[in-house]
Amino acid sequence: MDLSFSKYAEVVSGESTLVYSDLARNVSKEKGFRIINFGIGQPDLPTFEPIRNEAIKALEEGFTGYTPAAGIDELRSKVAEHLTERYGDRVRKEEVIITPGAKTALFLAFLLTVNPGDEVIIPDPSFYSYAEVVKMLGGVVKYVPMRWSEESGFSLDIESIESQITSKTRMIVFNNPHNPTGTLFSPKEVEELVRIAREKRVWLLSDEIYDYFVYEGQMRSVLQDSDWRSFVLYVNGFSKTFSMTGWRLGYLVAREEMIRKAVALAANIYTCPTSFAQKGALAAFQHFDLVKQMIDLFKRRRDVMFSELKKVKGVRVSLPRGAFYMFPNISEILRKKGWTSKDFSVNLIQSKGVTTIPGEVFSPKVGKDFVRLSFALDENDIREGVQRTKEFVDEILSG
Ligand SMILES: Cc1ncc(COP(=O)(O)O)c(C=O)c1O
Repeated sequence: MDLSFSKYAEVVSGESTLVYSDLARNVSKEKGFRIINFGIGQPDLPTFEPIRNEAIKALEEGFTGYTPAAGIDELRSKVAEHLTERYGDRVRKEEVIITPGAKTALFLAFLLTVNPGDEVIIPDPSFYSYAEVVKMLGGVVKYVPMRWSEESGFSLDIESIESQITSKTRMIVFNNPHNPTGTLFSPKEVEELVRIAREKRVWLLSDEIYDYFVYEGQMRSVLQDSDWRSFVLYVNGFSKTFSMTGWRLGYLVAREEMIRKAVALAANIYTCPTSFAQKGALAAFQHFDLVKQMIDLFKRRRDVMFSELKKVKGVRVSLPRGAFYMFPNISEILRKKGWTSKDFSVNLIQSKGVTTIPGEVFSPKVGKDFVRLSFALDENDIREGVQRTKEFVDEILSG
């Protein structure tokens, strides 16, 4: 009998942002440091009160059983109405499935479309879980390096993406605003990607989970293309916008036939999203005023982190226009020490109690010279964390 893992489970690396939080916890226990966590991938505020109250009410009223696999009708309709209002096209509730977090929406999107041997184009760097899931399904990841300069930050290399498309290409994965770089892609870049997907007849999986975290510039959604139903799989969720990461609620939007199949998969994998969490989420759409206050707060934090980081030797950083991450280039420091970005992050945690996420987690190539810092934390902690980082860098560069 062979009692080993399946070939699908075998390929999952276990590398993720969570590994560095675990390391920090251990260091904190051992050395008594107060950890400054720039590794954080979620807003630090509790979920807004009216949303919490709706979920409590649902629990008290006994709304605790299974729901339809696609999610409750009211929430699917609310999402459809919201997207219709925001992007102009008439999205219908039959084109929406509510999922346990955006990660599950992404998983369903890949499961719906990727066969073993299919090629999937992913910009390098990107959110680590895209490539892991593609590999899990037997797909082949084709990373396309993004361009970077200190003045203008990251951008897509559209020609390179187009030239990588072969008869085996099934999908392009896109994330806007972008984790880990904080890039808000220009409307032109979005339109170009949409054009490529349409012309080459490949799926465009667009993860727009940070769509409200935009500090300047214009957010263009792939749903603004009138032909989106032909080739778009759109993912979004409640985790970031309403600070609901632990509630596990996201959604996938695609043409009805895709969603019907996604519902069949969902029924066999997890049955349905959590019942009372969905009731809470219904209240979310009435509270964009609170979202706006949170974004204003994050913009101030971004500006503080940017101006502080600028003072650190060997760190080259560009101003992110979206999400809540900075992705500075630290190649000068790495070269001097002969380190990888992972060495940098591990040493920084161990000697100063500051958590960052090494660029390697998001990237086989381009990200190797970078680290990710989240600014979803208190302004004073941002100042202290960058100060400790500065001391660390000064020490290692002079040592
Ligand atoms: C780009 C991106 N997509 C999806 C997710 C997952 O979201 P959720 O918590 O709703 O599963 C994250 C979370 O960090 C993310 O950064």
